[in-house]
Amino acid sequence: MATLLRIDASAQFEERSLTRNLTGLFEETFLKHAPGSEVIVRDVGHNPFPAIDQEFIHAAFTPFKERETWMHERLQLSDQLIDELDKADVITLGVPMYNYGIPAPLKCWIDHVARIDRTFSFDLSRGDYPIEPILSGKKLVVLSSRGEFGFHAGGMRSHMNALDPAIAACAHYLGANAAEIQTVAIEYQEFKDTRHQRSVELAEKATREIAMQLALPKLAA
Ligand SMILES: Cc1cc2nc3c(=O)[nH]c(=O)nc-3n(C[C@H](O)[C@H](O)[C@H](O)COP(=O)(O)O)c2cc1C
Repeated sequence: MATLLRIDASAQFEERSLTRNLTGLFEETFLKHAPGSEVIVRDVGHNPFPAIDQEFIHAAFTPFKERETWMHERLQLSDQLIDELDKADVITLGVPMYNYGIPAPLKCWIDHVARIDRTFSFDLSRGDYPIEPILSGKKLVVLSSRGEFGFHAGGMRSHMNALDPAIAACAHYLGANAAEIQTVAIEYQEFKDTRHQRSVELAEKATREIAMQLALPKLAA
């Protein structure tokens, strides 16, 4: 049985959020083709976590056996989020573009799951690349929406796209290969014209196709 982890990061109401529509479509299609799969949902857009702070960092960088009780308590949420990530075969992120980057609550979720000795190891004997991921083999699907357009490679606003590179840079913490991230992005939302309508249609189609592709291998297993 497959496990799907769905993270929604839009602050918008359910019915007005284009990314929630896509993550919902993804979940529905995935379950249709891999019935009985477990779905774990984290709506960080509506229920954001507290940002990591000095106490979190101190606790996270203290070796497990030396941690005081308060440190274990401070890391409890992070441990739970990592357990959810660890279980997931497929991760789908609903990611609106906010000020050309990812929403702060999504960054906060990443900050909670990027943890030394849980999702990555650090060893200076590895030379210039001391970080190695601990998780692997997960499929990462980014379902995004943007008010403007042209953020793809070579597009007129590609130089302003701080969203896709931010996710790609952290993919290894999530156990995913950055080169294999599948991204679907609605554009033109602020223009509300036929280009936007077309973009929504294409995004919905692509979302269904990706969900089906990722669900089917699990059916065969
Ligand atoms: C706070 C805020 C900041 C935004 N910043 C950008 C931006 O920098 N570039 C852009 O193309 N669209 C921007 N938008 C438009 C959103 O990306 C667009 O409305 C998208 O559909 C939001 O996703 P959602 O519908 O799931 O909430 C912004 C919207 C909001 C609410």
